[in-house]
Amino acid sequence: MCAVKAPPSYGYPFVTAHRFLPSAPLTGRIRVPGDKSISHRSLMFGALAIGRSRISGLLEGEDVLATAAALRAMGATINRDGDDWVVDGVGVGGLLQPEQALDMGNSGTSTRLLMGLVASHGITAAFTGDASLSKRPMGRVIDPLSTMGASFTASPGGTLPLMMEGMEPAVPITYELPVASAQVKSAVLLAGLNTPGTTTVIEPVPTRDHTERMLRGFGADLTVEEMDGKRVVRIHGPADLHPCDITVPGDPSSAAFFAVAASVVPGSDLVIENVGLNPTRSGIFTVLEQMGANIQKLDERDVGGEPVADLRVRHAALKGIDVDPAIAPSMIDEFPILFVAAAMASGTTVTSGLDELRVKESDRLSAMAAALSASGVNVEERDDGLVIEGSGGLPLRGTANAKVETHLDHRIAMSMAIAGLVSNDGVEIDDVEPIATSFPNFTALLDTASS
Ligand code: S3P
Repeated sequence: MCAVKAPPSYGYPFVTAHRFLPSAPLTGRIRVPGDKSISHRSLMFGALAIGRSRISGLLEGEDVLATAAALRAMGATINRDGDDWVVDGVGVGGLLQPEQALDMGNSGTSTRLLMGLVASHGITAAFTGDASLSKRPMGRVIDPLSTMGASFTASPGGTLPLMMEGMEPAVPITYELPVASAQVKSAVLLAGLNTPGTTTVIEPVPTRDHTERMLRGFGADLTVEEMDGKRVVRIHGPADLHPCDITVPGDPSSAAFFAVAASVVPGSDLVIENVGLNPTRSGIFTVLEQMGANIQKLDERDVGGEPVADLRVRHAALKGIDVDPAIAPSMIDEFPILFVAAAMASGTTVTSGLDELRVKESDRLSAMAAALSASGVNVEERDDGLVIEGSGGLPLRGTANAKVETHLDHRIAMSMAIAGLVSNDGVEIDDVEPIATSFPNFTALLDTASS
C-alpha cells in the first residue's frame, strides 16, 4: 500500500510546449483511463461511508488526486492498494475541519462537490485553485448552499480563493437549477446527505446522473421523478452510507479524442475498449454518427451500474451538420473535439446554445475559435456557439510558426493535438502540462495507436 501522492503544487512555473505532427493511421486496441466524474464521486462517497470501499479503474489524474488529498485533509483514509484504491470513510457528518486550505488545482468538480459536502458539516474550510479555476464562477453553488445555512467569504465576483463555514444541522431546500449543471445539482444533493429532512433539486434539463446512480448504490434514500417534463431528485437526510466496491468505466470524454482522431486520420481502424456510454454522457458519439462517423459498439455490457461498450471506429468522410442544442448537456465537455471533427468535415457545422462553454477551464468558444483560426480553419465565433467551415477531409494548414494558446485547459490542448495529426505543418500547443489533470497517458496512447 502506498500513500496518496500529494497533488502537484499548482501555479508552478513549468510550461511544456509540444508540436503534434501529421500521423499514421490509428490502429489496434487502446483503453482510456477511468471516468473522471465517477472517480471523484467514488472517493467522496467512499469517504462518507462507514467502512472500507474499494475502487478499481480510478482515474489517477491531477483533478481526482486533488479530491483525494482534500478528503484526507478532512479525515478519510485513502490509499492505493495494488491497482485498486481503498477508502476508509468517516461516515456522513464525520468530516473533520481541514488544517490548511484545500488546494483544488484546476478542478471545478472537486471544488463544487466538496463545497456541497462541507456546507452541512459544522466545519470551516478554505478553497484555493490555479489561475484557471480562480476565474470560474462559484456563485452558482454559493447561492443554494447559503440558503441551506452555509456562509461564505469569496473573492470578488464569487470566485476562489474562498472561505466557507458549514451549518450543522443545515436547512433542507427545494432548488430549481438556473443552469444545466451536474456540479450544482450534485453540490446541493451532497449537502442534503447530512441535512435532516428532504432536499430537492429540480432539473429542467437532465445532466449527467452519476451522483444519483452512485448515491443509491451507497444506500442513500434518493428518488428521481419526472414532473411536468422536469427531473425532480429528492434526497432524505441524514443518510447512512455503506461502503461499496466500485469499478470505474473508461471515460467517454477521453475516448472522444480518439474517436475523432480515428474518424479523421485516413486509414484508421481503432478499438477503444471499455467506454462508459451513460446516455447523459454519450451525446458526442450520436453527433459524430449524424456527421457520418463509422462507430460500432461491440460487447455492450454493464460495468458498475453504467452501460459500457468497446467502440470500433474507422476513418470516414464526415459532413457538417447543425448540432441540436438540446444534446449539449450530454456532451458538454466534448465540444472542443467536436469542433476539430467539424473542421475536417465537408460543409458547414453550426453549434448554438453553448453559453456554458465560456465558463469551463477556459472560455472554450473563444479558445477554440482562436486555435482553429491559427491552424487555417474558417471559424465564426458567435455569442453561444461556433460556425465552422470544414476542409472536406483535406489536411488543415496547421501552425508553422505559431503556438496555440490552451489557457490551462486540458481539453483545448488535447483537441488541438488531434488537429495536429491531420495538418500539413503540425500544430504546436503552448503547454501540454494541463493534460495530466484528466488524461495523464494521452500522448503515450496516441503514440501507441499511431505506431
Ligand atoms: C461534471 C459536470 C460538468 C462537466 C465537468 C464534470 C461533473 O460541469 O463539465 O467536467 O462531474 O459533475 P457542469 O456541471 O459545470 O456542467
